[in-house]
Amino acid sequence: MAPVVLRVALALQLGLFSAVAVEGPVVITGATGRTGALLYNTLKAKGVSVRALVRNVTKAKEVLRCSACDASEGIFLGDVTKKETLVQAMEGAGALAIVASSVPVCTGGMDTCSYPKGAFPVDIDWLASKVQVEAFAESQKKAGKVPGPVVLCSSMGTTEPDSFLDKLGNGFAVFYKLNAEAALMSSGLPFTIVKPCGLSDTAAGEAQLLVGHDDSISLKTPITRGDVARVMAEATLQPEKAKGLRFDLCSQPGAATADFGKLFDEARNPLAQAQAQVVV
Ligand SMILES: NC(=O)c1ccc[n+]([C@@H]2O[C@H](COP(=O)([O-])OP(=O)(O)OC[C@H]3O[C@@H](n4cnc5c(N)ncnc54)[C@H](OP(=O)(O)O)[C@@H]3O)[C@@H](O)[C@H]2O)c1
Ligand SMILES: *[C@@H]1O[C@H](CO)[C@@H](O)[C@H](O)[C@H]1NC(C)=O
Repeated sequence: MAPVVLRVALALQLGLFSAVAVEGPVVITGATGRTGALLYNTLKAKGVSVRALVRNVTKAKEVLRCSACDASEGIFLGDVTKKETLVQAMEGAGALAIVASSVPVCTGGMDTCSYPKGAFPVDIDWLASKVQVEAFAESQKKAGKVPGPVVLCSSMGTTEPDSFLDKLGNGFAVFYKLNAEAALMSSGLPFTIVKPCGLSDTAAGEAQLLVGHDDSISLKTPITRGDVARVMAEATLQPEKAKGLRFDLCSQPGAATADFGKLFDEARNPLAQAQAQVVV
């Protein structure tokens, strides 16, 4: 085989040449959640067509400032555990952002937390993530399009078994999020997995964003939800850059990050970076 042919074959194997198109609206699940609403507003402000998958229209009215709050305004009522309720929102979609998540209910300290019945991490973070990915994959197939990307908000801390986050309400949230990551990565769909450190609600766009792998970066300073939303928004807007990435995301005081293409380059696993350099 001639070297050029070999290089092309390698590049194809690495998926470097296959185009990821975002043709159609970006579906956001968990859109009335704290990060989800920020992602919805970030993309909308950029003129991107967005669809919010919500389970509470009253909350959608408050948080997303819709008026009819129905499909005519891109608001879809659904439950991420039930595939049939996702079909309408996914129809003709260009990308999927999964921000729906289990939410622990605590009455006092960490040891008072529990999850509502049917809404444990196993139900929402794991099984419902697969449901969302399947519903999106089916919509892409039905529309006969090259599948658009799935951007998943997961969590840092997945290298530590039985961590305090896992112990919360005996839900094993981080363990199930890791399983969801693996399911998405083996789905055959283009993906980006964002694994934030502790979340805060300060202003976005003011910190230096840090990326890493396998919990090597510090968990000490939190990242604001608005910055997680910006990174997820950019991942849907720059799918070629963000495709195949799974990375930890945190922040620190410093020059505010503005170049997300560069951030995605830095977020590529060092092994994948080395391979890409061989073929380019
Ligand atoms: N807290 C941290 O420090 C931390 C650190 C790292 C990663 N994370 C992860 O980051 C992500 C975003 O966190 P967040 O605090 O911004 O999220 P959040 O406010 O807790 O939002 C969760 C969303 O999921 C929705 N949801 C739950 N069950 C659903 C169902 N069955 N059907 C449809 N929607 C459902 C909720 O709907 P409603 O709006 O109707 O309640 C809500 O919008 C989560 O995955 C979280 O685990 C958090
Ligand atoms: C729906 O959202 C409203 C407004 O946030 C809240 O008061 C209400 O309790 C929610 N309903 C359910 C069933 O969670």
